[in-house]
Amino acid sequence: MIRFDLEPAQKYIDDAVMQDARVAAADAFSQIQKKNGKGAEWLGWRDLVASPNDALIEEITELSAAIRSDADVFIVCGIGGSYLGAKAAIDALKEPFYSDRPRIVYAGHHIGGSYLEHLIKYIDKPRSDGQKKSVYINVISKSGTTMETALAFRTIANWMTEAYGQKEAARRTICTTSAEGGKLNQLIDQYGYKKFIIPDDVGGRYSVLTPVGLLPIAVAGIDVRSLYYGAVDAYKFYEENTEDILEYAATRYALFKSGYAVDLIGTFEPNLSAVCGWMQQLLGESEGKNGKGLFPSVANYSTDLHSIGQIVQDGQRNIAETFVTVKQAQSDITVANQEGDVDGLNYLSGQSFHHVNSKAYEGTRQAHDEGKVPTLELELKNVSAESIGWFFYALELACPVNVYCLDENPFDQPGVEQYKKNMFSLLGKPS
Ligand code: PA5
Repeated sequence: MIRFDLEPAQKYIDDAVMQDARVAAADAFSQIQKKNGKGAEWLGWRDLVASPNDALIEEITELSAAIRSDADVFIVCGIGGSYLGAKAAIDALKEPFYSDRPRIVYAGHHIGGSYLEHLIKYIDKPRSDGQKKSVYINVISKSGTTMETALAFRTIANWMTEAYGQKEAARRTICTTSAEGGKLNQLIDQYGYKKFIIPDDVGGRYSVLTPVGLLPIAVAGIDVRSLYYGAVDAYKFYEENTEDILEYAATRYALFKSGYAVDLIGTFEPNLSAVCGWMQQLLGESEGKNGKGLFPSVANYSTDLHSIGQIVQDGQRNIAETFVTVKQAQSDITVANQEGDVDGLNYLSGQSFHHVNSKAYEGTRQAHDEGKVPTLELELKNVSAESIGWFFYALELACPVNVYCLDENPFDQPGVEQYKKNMFSLLGKPS
């Protein structure tokens, strides 16, 4: 389901470094399998696919069908690992200008007041037939205390109570959180909200295959069973066939050991931009500890060739680049013929956009290679629920292999606390 093309990066790595990295990656994978590495109590994301939970898929499918038949708007309220996986799958698999209901919107992923104000205005505005909009919210927070999410939820919950009354507002509110603890659980007890549980041993950025990701993805009308079983198939495959994952993780580790600082994750498929964003968070929060890790950044090509293309081609040589590509065309639209060929593009008439885009990718990879950028490629066979599920699991596995090579814990994020400490102090939070 994924083809890994790593050789154009490996030619920049010393053979001995690459060999050591392979040994480290094999050892890292065995730590994951034996559950004896750092943060081993957080390996529950593997159990999710090792023992598929069909009852959960059934429950999510039923609830999402009921919501889809009634909702105009479904608000996904969460930040970081609590929304990026859902957004990745939804952006990848929904048409960009979809018109089916409900419209999926995001909240709680920042503290921008203007965005929230406009969101409230949007849900407050009646439908074109004059009826009140039917709004549901899924608030997702494992800790149940994340300020961005809690502030947005407080605002939207108030609007919902005013709009529908307390009982109906509660019926339209679904919470995804840990089994116990956190303020969200207190609100669930107080108002009787529907609750989905995030297993204790699954961290935020590894949680897309729990209700965190699966419920919003299902409400968007995507076949979550296929997505989930794509991940289950990936689990089965990579338990037996470790080469690709180990070689990929070893290559990223060897790049770090060779002095590279940045992993620019680029795609020429606009609907995979959020998949790259999910990958960015997974890699960044897992790896970036004690002065280690490749800084993951996202490039949306070919758009960004007209912004950062120059510095990638010719700036400081500490950048590696990972292209996320798709083999199968996602559309068969072709270039039209133009009378008189005024714009000089008739040499492309009849060619598919997929073909032109593929050549733009190949030309870019070649150019960046000539500019001495080590490049990697992760090529999906196609963009389907199944392949996106497969991709999620493959990356969830490769990431901690790489982090164990760095001798760090892939499942914590101690550095994220620093901004919170400062912000709370500046806001005068009572201790
Ligand atoms: O990956 C992680 O653990 C984080 O990105 C969290 O998902 C993010 O901080 C949100 O946390 P919570 O779900 O507790 O609100």
